[in-house]
Amino acid sequence: MNKIKLGVIFGGMSTEHDVSIVSATSIIKNLNREKYEILPIYIDNEGKWYKYTKNIEEIEILKVGEKLDNIEPLENVIDYLRKLDVAFPVLHGLYGEDGTIQGLFELLKLKYVGCKVLGSSICMDKAYTKVIFNKAKISQAKYIYIKAKGDDYRYINNNFDEQKLTLEEISKKVKEELGFPVFVKPSNSGSSVGIEKANNEEKLKQAIKYAQKFDTKILIEEEIIGREVECAVLGNENVEATCVGEILPAEEFYTFDAKYKNAQSRVVIPAQISKEKQEEIKKLAIKAFKAVDGKGLSRVDFFIKKDTEEVIINEINTLPGFTQISMYPKLWENSGISYTELLDRLVDLACRVGDVS
Ligand SMILES: Nc1ncnc2c1ncn2[C@@H]1O[C@H](COP(=O)(O)OP(=O)(O)O)[C@@H](O)[C@H]1O
Ligand SMILES: [Mg+2]
Repeated sequence: MNKIKLGVIFGGMSTEHDVSIVSATSIIKNLNREKYEILPIYIDNEGKWYKYTKNIEEIEILKVGEKLDNIEPLENVIDYLRKLDVAFPVLHGLYGEDGTIQGLFELLKLKYVGCKVLGSSICMDKAYTKVIFNKAKISQAKYIYIKAKGDDYRYINNNFDEQKLTLEEISKKVKEELGFPVFVKPSNSGSSVGIEKANNEEKLKQAIKYAQKFDTKILIEEEIIGREVECAVLGNENVEATCVGEILPAEEFYTFDAKYKNAQSRVVIPAQISKEKQEEIKKLAIKAFKAVDGKGLSRVDFFIKKDTEEVIINEINTLPGFTQISMYPKLWENSGISYTELLDRLVDLACRVGDVS
């Protein structure tokens, strides 16, 4: 049997560049050598593409901040991509998880792992994910959506009408409509980069200015007090979901450091919640994945409210963290699918996009 030429693409021009390297080296280490000819492809922060020059067995799983050696620039990216049977974009965030690289694969008629252009772009942009969740009637945190460019602030209502407001007026609106604390998020964010919790108007204004460094679209959300749980989904048309895992962040919320640097952060699989809640969340995860036109894989994140136990959706990650200790592969492992087998399933799903079964 001919081996599948699998391009594992990683790094990329997003704030999650380093995390992508860790995910990708874990994937490379665990891919079945019998089935795949693995071609690692690295994209640097500026968008330059490189190929790996040594024997694949020399690649070790890297830690956040470490870089891959033995790479050389790709002279012709398009020609190189055309040689592949399947691409596996192990890229988190902008230019990788947002539909842009997926568009390139579509143009080349190259099969690829994960969500397509539409699903990827909806899920990358929190403001637009909210619109779809709202349409699907899945409960979510109340929020205010603004656009910010320098000192120009615009409030965007549910009908997408824009109203120019001062930062002061926005902060009054937040106080009246959401109360404090709130979470301020760049609409295009990931790994908690650019996200801050604000307990008062002063901090809110600072947090908005900070979020502006990452995006012109900003969401301000009411705080959901409760447990943070995540569910893994897999499939194109017939979508399966795992049990739910719980995040126990070591910091006030699940910040970048709590995710990748603080060893005290823990995950509990399965989450200690009732069977009924597990089932409810699994169903919602599949519904949300389908609503955003998800394909292949996603991790769907929720809160369970402390007071009412209501399930609130937070977001969908179309290329979730993929190290051996990441929630997504761990959830599948708990369901009896090993990391290596999971990768086989993903490549197989990439080859079968468009099939109805
Ligand atoms: N509305 C909210 N209420 C409570 N905590 C929140 C809220 N929104 C975000 N958080 C906290 O911030 C973290 C990061 O926010 P999230 O929307 O998941 O962004 P990212 O895409 O960067 O992961 C969450 O994992 C959670 O700990
Ligand atoms: Mg998140």
